Amino acid sequence: MNQIMIETAKKTYPVMIGKGAVNMIASFIMNMSKKPTRLFVIADEAVHALYGEKLKKSLPESIPANWQLVPAGESAKSFSVFEKCLTTMLESSLDRRSLVIAFGGGACGDLAGFCAAAYMRGIPFIQVPTTILAHDSAVGGKTAINHPLGKNMIGAFHQPEAVIYDTEFLTSLSEKETRSGFAEVIKHALIADKKLFEDIQKNVHQAKDITGSFLEHCLQKGIEIKGEIVKEDELETGVRAYLNFGHTYGHAVEALSGYGKVAHGEAVACGMIFALYASAFKNDLDFDIPFFAAWLKKAGYPVKAGTAFSFEEIYDVMTRDKKAYGGTVRFVLLTEIGKPYVTDMTKEELQQIDQQFRKEALQW
Ligand SMILES: NC(=O)c1ccc[n+]([C@@H]2O[C@H](COP(=O)([O-])OP(=O)(O)OC[C@H]3O[C@@H](n4cnc5c(N)ncnc54)[C@H](O)[C@@H]3O)[C@@H](O)[C@H]2O)c1
Ligand SMILES: [Zn+2]
Repeated sequence: MNQIMIETAKKTYPVMIGKGAVNMIASFIMNMSKKPTRLFVIADEAVHALYGEKLKKSLPESIPANWQLVPAGESAKSFSVFEKCLTTMLESSLDRRSLVIAFGGGACGDLAGFCAAAYMRGIPFIQVPTTILAHDSAVGGKTAINHPLGKNMIGAFHQPEAVIYDTEFLTSLSEKETRSGFAEVIKHALIADKKLFEDIQKNVHQAKDITGSFLEHCLQKGIEIKGEIVKEDELETGVRAYLNFGHTYGHAVEALSGYGKVAHGEAVACGMIFALYASAFKNDLDFDIPFFAAWLKKAGYPVKAGTAFSFEEIYDVMTRDKKAYGGTVRFVLLTEIGKPYVTDMTKEELQQIDQQFRKEALQW
């Protein structure tokens, strides 16, 4: 079991990570400076079916607990589920010292975090993440639900009291979810840690290699990287944008493919290849992109997913992004591995990069 501290302006909190970490939850809760009056677990129903008993047994017996199951995955991040949770929270007479526990992947964590942020203008919560992707989403305090007009458009910054990350939960993830979540680890390595990136390329050759102590090591490194960025820029006015590496093009591929068909991280993997070509175009980035793309493909990533759509379709979605202005599109690029920066790309530049991407994709 390891502990990583996340420092933000208002709060410093631990991420406890390792096999059996969930067993630490009772002692953490009992040692909180204001002991919770009541617990309210918001659980992804699929995760509840697998591990609900395990979490139940790990909670302190002396504090009453209510549970609210929510639909598995992304469909939990809706207004109707949000309302349902708040209704049950009111019916359960939660007060300002009650504690919400988010139990599931990034979707359940985002929903439960937002419920905690909104209930009585903010009550404490703990993240108990169960996916690889959640090494990213559970840390940093961004919470949100979706609006029919846009993903993550309704939300708040609300930091958890702790993140209790039991890596034993990760063994039941599907290969697709494993691959998808690991793309965010690759992202963290590319924007901040060349050595980690090299280690990943050495150790991972197929999705099955994303497991065990190597995975745990990568998750810890990824959390440390995210923690450093959040410490510097909690509210995303500067360097936190680096975490969007691969996401501008990736989000477009995800949206055009229909959410869920190409998983978020799979689309981000494709987006990272595009961003690397853009980095080579703008900054002569010294990096073997075809080798990287072929390596991702071997690990099962749909590296060519973007080529299913025309440049105009992709460009249209990219300009609808929260960070696009007047026809240019904001991109995170690298000057070298571990050295990101933010720049605005014109349509002409993007079109040239898109052409190169399509041409080279024929070789992967
Ligand atoms: N807040 C942030 O900073 C942030 C950052 C990145 C992503 N996100 C959000 O995270 C969400 C994606 O999260 P995710 O990839 O964890 O997906 P998810 O929460 O949708 O879970 C994916 C699927 O895996 C299942 N699952 C979860 N844990 C499992 C386990 N241990 N074993 C078997 N199945 C399991 C779920 O039921 C679901 O069907 C998106 O909504 C995204 O917007 C938030
Ligand atoms: Zn992401």
